[in-house]
Amino acid sequence: MAAVAWGRCLPRVWLRRRAGPGCGRHYRAALCAELKQPLAIEEVASCPVRPHEVRVDVHFCGVNFADILVCRGQYQEKPQLPFTPGMEFSGTVLETGTDVSTVKEGDQVIGVSGFNGMAEECIIDHKTLWQIPEGVPLREAATLPVSYVTAILALEHRACTRPGETVLVTAAAGATGLAVIDVATNVLQAKVIAAAGSDEKCRLAMRKGAQSIVNYSQGSLKEAVRKLVGSDGVNVVIDAVGGDVFLEALRSLAWEGRIVVVGFAGGTIASVPANLLLLKNVSAMGLYWGRYKEQNFPVFSRILSSALQYCQQGRIQPHIGAVFKLEEVNDAFLHVIQRKSMGKVLISLK
Ligand SMILES: NC(=O)c1ccc[n+]([C@@H]2O[C@H](COP(=O)([O-])OP(=O)(O)OC[C@H]3O[C@@H](n4cnc5c(N)ncnc54)[C@H](OP(=O)(O)O)[C@@H]3O)[C@@H](O)[C@H]2O)c1
Repeated sequence: MAAVAWGRCLPRVWLRRRAGPGCGRHYRAALCAELKQPLAIEEVASCPVRPHEVRVDVHFCGVNFADILVCRGQYQEKPQLPFTPGMEFSGTVLETGTDVSTVKEGDQVIGVSGFNGMAEECIIDHKTLWQIPEGVPLREAATLPVSYVTAILALEHRACTRPGETVLVTAAAGATGLAVIDVATNVLQAKVIAAAGSDEKCRLAMRKGAQSIVNYSQGSLKEAVRKLVGSDGVNVVIDAVGGDVFLEALRSLAWEGRIVVVGFAGGTIASVPANLLLLKNVSAMGLYWGRYKEQNFPVFSRILSSALQYCQQGRIQPHIGAVFKLEEVNDAFLHVIQRKSMGKVLISLK
């Protein structure tokens, strides 16, 4: 659905009470009851926690492009309706199941949920909760699980970025893009060329550590990159846009360069001309954040813990562009889909 259509059918969020087998308590949650329709805010009955589970009082939940896609039925994972979107959150532990010893009541945590973070309360397996270290605010912590883990997985684990290498990142002022700039510059000591769709976004990317910028709404990305680095090209590309932007970025790679496909925010999935891979001995690879949680949890968990540590040490500084209230969740989605967002967008549950 185009951004305009989403906006046109946007009623005020409504509140209704959903019956459930709860213990009498209720909490508010954003609910997707029908795909491609605005979310509702409902009161949901609290459920008892099972032995391995933890009940969290959610303070902040990240808004990700994927949340919007999943509510349109355009994401690779398709939860059963009705569901509550929201893949990452920060909050305080309210209650633990009888088998849980990793966290206790009152602990501050971040969580990676399937689809249920945009709610005042979340019940989650204790294995997908991480303690927030001292000095890391709940707001900043909520930005880490998706954007920063994606950035670290893409740069470090997939592309094996080395100090001094040049990284080109597209949608550079977005949540993922700024995380890539932050990690590449401040953790990996790489040089970043930030490519984004407006001068304002380019200026922000520069302030956040990029060495050079390209506004790809004003001409060819490949030509602009060539002017910056000459015919040698860039070592690593992290692309979240797809389509022609991906193809131009692919053509900007240096000998033995690596391009990581992170997303298709522009709506078009490009085909890779295999001859380009051969000619310069370059590698095209994919990265799907959520799959690491399922397939290689130790790597996922180690990277999330290192993001928390980098944040505590002040080595990374997440950029929060906007915070919306739960009842403004449809406005938050619109803000992202209309390309207005810069940095992370959060829902505040407090
Ligand atoms: N693979 C993974 O595990 C993973 C993890 C996180 C995110 N992602 C993907 O990465 C992309 C970025 O996600 P995000 O949550 O960080 O969002 P975001 O970058 O904060 O916002 C999306 C950005 O994409 C760019 N864009 C280009 N064409 C667009 C269009 N037609 N409509 C909307 N935006 C467009 C815009 O930046 P410009 O105006 O600068 O072009 C926009 O600001 C998404 O495709 C998302 O699904 C993938």
